[in-house]
Amino acid sequence: MIRNPYMPQEAEILKIFQETDINYTFRLKTDLKVKSGQFLEVSIPRIGEAPISVSDFGDGYLDLTIRKVGRVTQALHNLQPGDKFFIRGPYGNGFPIDKLKDRRLIVAAGGTGLAPVKSLINQYYNDSLEIKSLQLLAGFKSPGDILFSSELEKWSKKFPVEITVDRGSENWKGRVGLVTKLVADLDISEVENTMVIVVGPPLMMKFTTQEFVKKKISIGNIYLSFERKMSCGIGKCGHCKIDDTYVCLEGPVFEYSKAIQLLD
Ligand SMILES: Cc1cc2nc3c(=O)[nH]c(=O)nc-3n(C[C@H](O)[C@H](O)[C@H](O)COP(=O)(O)OP(=O)(O)OC[C@H]3O[C@@H](n4cnc5c(N)ncnc54)[C@H](O)[C@@H]3O)c2cc1C
Ligand code: FES
Repeated sequence: MIRNPYMPQEAEILKIFQETDINYTFRLKTDLKVKSGQFLEVSIPRIGEAPISVSDFGDGYLDLTIRKVGRVTQALHNLQPGDKFFIRGPYGNGFPIDKLKDRRLIVAAGGTGLAPVKSLINQYYNDSLEIKSLQLLAGFKSPGDILFSSELEKWSKKFPVEITVDRGSENWKGRVGLVTKLVADLDISEVENTMVIVVGPPLMMKFTTQEFVKKKISIGNIYLSFERKMSCGIGKCGHCKIDDTYVCLEGPVFEYSKAIQLLD
């Protein structure tokens, strides 16, 4: 049967993983086929709808990592395994896997920006992403905001993972400072063969990307993913429109030369 991607379908929560005080990962039972970097529209009847990136997927399930910020996300956080909510999609272009082939990849993520790139990173971890190398730079507000702690530890055994927090705490022994500083400190070999993905809040993306440009990474090799105000996700409402660009239809992943026109 051909599924209508505009029609919400009910999905059951298999498991819920607490990541931080306000971030939970919901594992849903579904056979929906998704690509890394795509998003779903998630809804609860009489409450509303919100776009949420797919943070991971596998046989018969997909994960959504959801930050409790408003009406829909608060209502989702009240649900339990066995409960159901509605999803439609997947929407968006996703990351340009073909352009990454045989390249060195640096991923810079800020806060919940790590969620949309998690499945891509796991593909590399599981040897199913054909790239030459991966390096992850991740920044969080504080140690308590660090997402996917066990994955970060697991990944760091296979490839370089650098974590920084804006504000440390008594027990924090790691780096303190912005992700931009991690980029500034990088010694990048094979600059022409290096691709970069930046995902995070708008200001983080703007300044992090500028640092990569200073490191002589070609703007054609830099991709940004936008988690900007969206509503319908299908080019109908205009909420995501910046000048002539519908972020929901053309994105959310954009090459820097295009993204630069979309950053505030
Ligand atoms: C492509 C894309 C992918 C995304 N992926 C993710 C993801 O993976 N995980 C994730 O957690 N989010 C993601 N988001 C963001 C998410 O869609 C938004 O946070 C969404 O608005 C949440 O819906 P809500 O109804 O819970 O919040 P809303 O009620 O719409 O609230 C949104 C914002 O408004 C503020 N707000 C709400 N009510 C009030 C009020 N009364 N007064 C003042 N301020 C208020 C909230 O503080 C919050 O910052 C993504 C967005 C896009 C576009
Ligand atoms: S979100 Fe409605 S047009 Fe893009």
